[in-house]
Amino acid sequence: MYKFEIDASAPKADLYTELVRAADALTSGEPDAVANMANIAALLWEYLPDVNWTGFYRVVGGELVLGPFQGKAACIRIPFGKGVCGTAAQSGKTQLVADVHAFPGHIACDANSASELVAPVLRNGMVIAVIDLDSPTLNRFDTEDANGIELLAGIIADRI
Ligand code: SME
Repeated sequence: MYKFEIDASAPKADLYTELVRAADALTSGEPDAVANMANIAALLWEYLPDVNWTGFYRVVGGELVLGPFQGKAACIRIPFGKGVCGTAAQSGKTQLVADVHAFPGHIACDANSASELVAPVLRNGMVIAVIDLDSPTLNRFDTEDANGIELLAGIIADRI
């Protein structure tokens, strides 16, 4: 059993520092990508308030394919360039979307989702996966969240 002391009142940057530390400790020395993504999806779910989906899409055969996650069952395949995830994968850039309904081509997997943050996971300059966070609250994510998730993506890029 893994037990994490999460201080929900801590500044957001500190929350991400702790989250990244926990993710590093859990995945260090473990070569199984599925196990690592599953534990990271669970950590994101446990650490971050006000989220309704946390998880991975992986680049497989030139498209995104659903990976380990927490939340409701989700769309399985997303073409590059489609939706928030496909845009992050194609551009290699984090997508911070305050209102998903205003995002052209947004793919609604959970009707409750209102805002979204998607960060690419890059290995040797190539996008190998994206980390996707959804929230039922508009404008839930900011640049501190983006920085925290990008830091996480960098730590795990060789472990998923
Ligand atoms: N909303 C995403 C699809 C994935 S779900 O949110 C889990 C998108 O537009 O790419």
